[in-house]
Amino acid sequence: MRFYSESLGLPDNAFALLRDLIAEKTGIFYENGKRDILGDKLSPLVLEKGLSSFLDYYYYLKYDEESEKEWEKVFDALSVPETYFWREVDQINALRDVIAPEHYRDTPHIPLKIWSAACATGEEPYTIAMELNEAGWFEKMSIEIHATDASRRSVDKARQGLYRERSFRSTQQSMKDRYFVRRDNNYAIRDDIKNLVKFSVANLLEFHKIYDLADSKVIFCRNVFIYFSENVIRKIVRFFYEHMPSPGYLFVGSAESLLKVTGDFQLKEIGGAFAYVK
Ligand SMILES: C[S@@+](CC[C@H](N)C(=O)[O-])C[C@H]1O[C@@H](n2cnc3c(N)ncnc32)[C@H](O)[C@@H]1O
Repeated sequence: MRFYSESLGLPDNAFALLRDLIAEKTGIFYENGKRDILGDKLSPLVLEKGLSSFLDYYYYLKYDEESEKEWEKVFDALSVPETYFWREVDQINALRDVIAPEHYRDTPHIPLKIWSAACATGEEPYTIAMELNEAGWFEKMSIEIHATDASRRSVDKARQGLYRERSFRSTQQSMKDRYFVRRDNNYAIRDDIKNLVKFSVANLLEFHKIYDLADSKVIFCRNVFIYFSENVIRKIVRFFYEHMPSPGYLFVGSAESLLKVTGDFQLKEIGGAFAYVK
C-alpha cells in the first residue's frame, strides 16, 4: 500500500541520495525496485519534521547537528522486526547440546558469552535463555546473554517481554505454559528468564558501540544480513572475526550465506546446524 510517497514524491535524485546515505549509516540497501517502500516508510518522518520534500530531509539527516536523534526514528521506521520464538531452532539446539558442553569442559571458569546481534523484539535471545535453562546450564556455569538491535522501539518491547500470539507460531504448548503468563491479550515472559538477557540499542555499523560484544564466543546475527550489501556484510563479519575468541561460533539465518564475503571462518555442521567457526 502506498500512502505518502505519491503526495510528497520521491524523485530520482533524492532517492539516490537518501538510499546511499541510509546504506552508509544503517547498512540497509534499498534497490531501485524498493523506492516506493522507502518513500512510504520515510514520508511520515519528513512530514513530522515539517519539511516539504525528501531532498530537504536528506540535507537534514546529512548535515544537521541534531540529526543523530532523528536516525533513531529512521531505524524504527525501516526496521523489519519480523521474528518469533524457536525460529530456526537447530542452531540454538547446537548451542545447548554441543557448544555449551564444550565450553563447560574446556573453559568452565570463563563465562560463556552469547550475543544476539539483531534481536528485534527479543524472541531470539529469550529462546536461547529458555533452552539453556531447560538443559540446566545456568546452574553449572556462568552465562552472559547480550541482545542488541538498532531499533530502540524493538529493544523497548524486548525489555517489556510482552508478546502476542503471532510470536508463538513455532512454540510447543508445554513451553508456552511453562515460561509465559497470560496478561489480557498478551503473554508475559517469566521474570527469571527476562533477567537473564541484557538488552541494549546498537547499530552493527558503529563498531565502537559493539566493540565490547564482538568478543562473544557465540554470535547470532540472523536474518539481518539479507538487508545489507555484500560490502557492508564483509566489514561486519571481518570485525566479528577479529574480535571473537577461538573457537568462536557465528550463526546467520538459513537464507543467508557468508561464503562470498569471507574466507576467514570455516563453515561446519554442528549438532545438525550450520555455523561459521573461527
Ligand atoms: C528480521 S529481524 C531479525 C530478528 C532475529 N534475529 C531473527 O532472526 O528472528 C531484523 C532486525 O535487524 C535490525 N537491524 C537492521 N539494521 C540493523 C543495524 N544496522 N544494526 C543492528 N540491527 C539492525 C532491525 O531493526 C530488525 O529488528
